[in-house]
Amino acid sequence: MSDKQAMLTIGDRELPLPILEGTTGPDVVDIRKLYNQSGMFTYDPGYTSTASCESALTYIDGENGVLLHRGYPIRQLAEHSSFMEVSYLLLNGELPSADELDEFTRTITRHTMLHEQLATFYRGFRRDGHPMAIMCGVVGALSAFYHDSTDISDPDHRRISSHRLIAKMPTIAAMAYKYSVGQPFLYPDNSLSYTANFLRMTFGVPSEAYEVHPAVERALDRIFILHADHEQNASTSTVRLAGSSGANPFACIAAGIACLWGPAHGGANEAALNMLREIGTPDRIQHYIDRAKDKNDPFRLMGFGHRVYKNYDPRAIVMQKTVREVFDALKVDDPLFETALRLEEIALHDDYFIEKKLFPNVDFYSGIILSAIGFPTTMFTALFALARTVGWVAQWNEMISDPGQKIGRPRQLYTGPTQRDYVPLDQR
Ligand code: CMC
Repeated sequence: MSDKQAMLTIGDRELPLPILEGTTGPDVVDIRKLYNQSGMFTYDPGYTSTASCESALTYIDGENGVLLHRGYPIRQLAEHSSFMEVSYLLLNGELPSADELDEFTRTITRHTMLHEQLATFYRGFRRDGHPMAIMCGVVGALSAFYHDSTDISDPDHRRISSHRLIAKMPTIAAMAYKYSVGQPFLYPDNSLSYTANFLRMTFGVPSEAYEVHPAVERALDRIFILHADHEQNASTSTVRLAGSSGANPFACIAAGIACLWGPAHGGANEAALNMLREIGTPDRIQHYIDRAKDKNDPFRLMGFGHRVYKNYDPRAIVMQKTVREVFDALKVDDPLFETALRLEEIALHDDYFIEKKLFPNVDFYSGIILSAIGFPTTMFTALFALARTVGWVAQWNEMISDPGQKIGRPRQLYTGPTQRDYVPLDQR
C-alpha cells in the first residue's frame, strides 16, 4: 500500500481514499469503504474504470500493445515456449525446470480420457448443435462425473480438478467436432503431445493412421499460447464471479465458456472469418469500411478494436506471421488472407479507425489459419475455450487461495418504480 491518497468531495464533506500501487500499471483508488463512509456507490457499467481484483498472472499495457504472462512477453513465449510450459507458468508463477515440465506434462497427459459414460451424454445433443453449446453442457456435466475433486477448500482437490479440466478439454472439443460430422469418437493417444493429440482426435479416424504435420502442430500450439490468458476479460471475470460463491470449478469453467461464446468476445474469430468471406475480394472492402463507420448501421469490423488495446494487439502480430508459416507448410493459399491484409491497411489509414484507436485484435487472423488447418468456423471459439481454460483455472485458483476473497456482489443504480401498493386483479 502507498501513502498516496485521493480526496473525494461530496458537498462540503471530504473523504480521503487510499491509493494502491501494483508492481506496474495504473494505481487504483481503493473505494472499499466508500459506501460505509458516504452511503454512495460508484457507477461503472462495463467496468471501464474498475479493477475487480488483485492478480499476479497477466499484465496488459493497452496503450503500448504489451502483454506479459508472469512478466514474460507474449512474443517471447509464442516464439520459444510451448503451451504446456505456458500452462505451468500461469498455474505456478515460474517457468518450470526440465524435470518439472516433464512431470507436469505427464500429469496432464494422464488425465486426457473422459469418463466413458460421457459419450452417452454427447448423444443427447442434436447432431447440428454448435460445438460451444455442447462444450458448455459437457464441461458443466463434469462435476457430476468427478465428485472426488469438487471440495474447493481442499488444495489437492483444486489441483486435481484444474489438471483434469486442462487435460480433458481437447478430448471434449474433439468429441464435439466428431459428433457434428457423424464420425466415431477417438480415444486420446498419450504418446502424442497435448496439441498433436488434439489434432489426431479431431481429424483422425479409427480406420487409418493419422500423421500429425509438425508445422501444423507448432502453429496450433502457438495459437493456444496466444489464447491462454488475458487478464480480467469478460469470461475470466465470469469464472471468478461464479467461483466467488464457492461453486465447483467445472461449473465455473462452463460459465466462462458460455460468456466466451458471444461475438464481442471469443465468438469474434468465427464472425471475423465469416465477415472476410462476405467481403470476398479487396474491391469490396471500402463498402464494408463505410458500413463500419456508419452510426446507423450495426455492422462492426470483426477482429478489430479492443477494450484494452489502443494499439496493435501483440497477439495479432504473431498470428499474422503464423498465417504465412501455415500456408507455406501446407502449400495452400487462401485469397482471403490478401483481403484481410488489404482491409487492415485501409482501416489503419482511415481517420475513423485512427481516432478511435481501432487495431486488429487476436481474432482478425486466427480464423484464416484455423480454416487452412481444416477446422470449420463453428470450432473456432471451441479452440479458444480449450486454450483459455488454463487461464480461467489459474485465475480461479488465485482467487480461491486469496484469504481476503469475498463473494462478488455488485450494486446498482435503481431506476424502477418506488414502493407502491399491490392492486388486485379485478381492479386493474
Ligand atoms: N468496428 C467499427 N467501430 C468500432 C469497432 C469495430 N470493430 N470497435 C469499436 N468501434 C467504435 C464504436 O462504435 C465506438 O464508437 P463511438 O465512440 O462513436 O460510439 C468506439 O469505437 C468505442 O467502441 P466501444 O464499443 O465503446 O468499445 P468497447 O471497449 O466497449 O468494445 C470491442 C470493445 C472488442 C467489444 C469492440 O471493439 C468490438 O465490438 N469489436 C469487434 C468484435 C471483436 O473483434 N471482438 C474481439 C475482441 S479480442 C478477443 C477477446 O478478447 O475475446
